[in-house]
Amino acid sequence: MTPISPLSTSGLPPARLTELIDALVEQGWFVGEDFIDMDLCAELHRELAVMAARDELDAAGIGRGQAHTLRRDIRGDAIRWLDRQSQAQRRYLDVMQGLQKALNQALFLGLFEYEAHFARYPPQAFYQRHLDSFRGRSNRVISTVSYLNPDWPSDAGGEMVIFAADDPEREMARVRPTAGTFACFLSETIPHEVLPTRLPRASIAGWFRRNASLGGLVDPAH
Ligand code: OGA
Ligand code: MN
Repeated sequence: MTPISPLSTSGLPPARLTELIDALVEQGWFVGEDFIDMDLCAELHRELAVMAARDELDAAGIGRGQAHTLRRDIRGDAIRWLDRQSQAQRRYLDVMQGLQKALNQALFLGLFEYEAHFARYPPQAFYQRHLDSFRGRSNRVISTVSYLNPDWPSDAGGEMVIFAADDPEREMARVRPTAGTFACFLSETIPHEVLPTRLPRASIAGWFRRNASLGGLVDPAH
């Protein structure tokens, strides 16, 4: 009888899941090309283009709750949260749910939900170096980014730069935002930035969260 791999639950190839988990443990980040299904990326890309054309995206801010402010000098993307309203969104969120399960099984992280937004960076937009979560102030544990752009010329900019956890000046990777590429990293420790883009740049950023509701206080949604 073939043993059932605990990593085969996500719809992602087990070998690539193992590679992802090992990289997260060893270096705190992972980048994989051709990781997300190309047809799914194409559908999500189309969906984002329609939302942009209908002016259904909101300028992205920084900070949570009351501290939320718009800072175009820090980040210039426009976003919309995924809400399972289309089949493509449901498929994407199901893949992430499978990944959540695999991460919990392998690393005992206690991740209990996932939130994600489409992001469109217009030409010239960027996102300065930042962390996605501050220790004790947020319950984002693992960040994910999926890229949706079918072609990305090498001179188009818009790469995501990943820096070392122990030295935010040391560049570890430069990720081209091409369709199928998937990145994930520890939200509290891995500094990263989006370099200025020359072309409209489409991605989905998401976060696996731990339940931080304490003493009857419901943790804020975003
Ligand atoms: C973010 C982010 C990176 C990217 O939304 O927090 O860092 O490459 N996005 O889109
Ligand atoms: Mn980020």
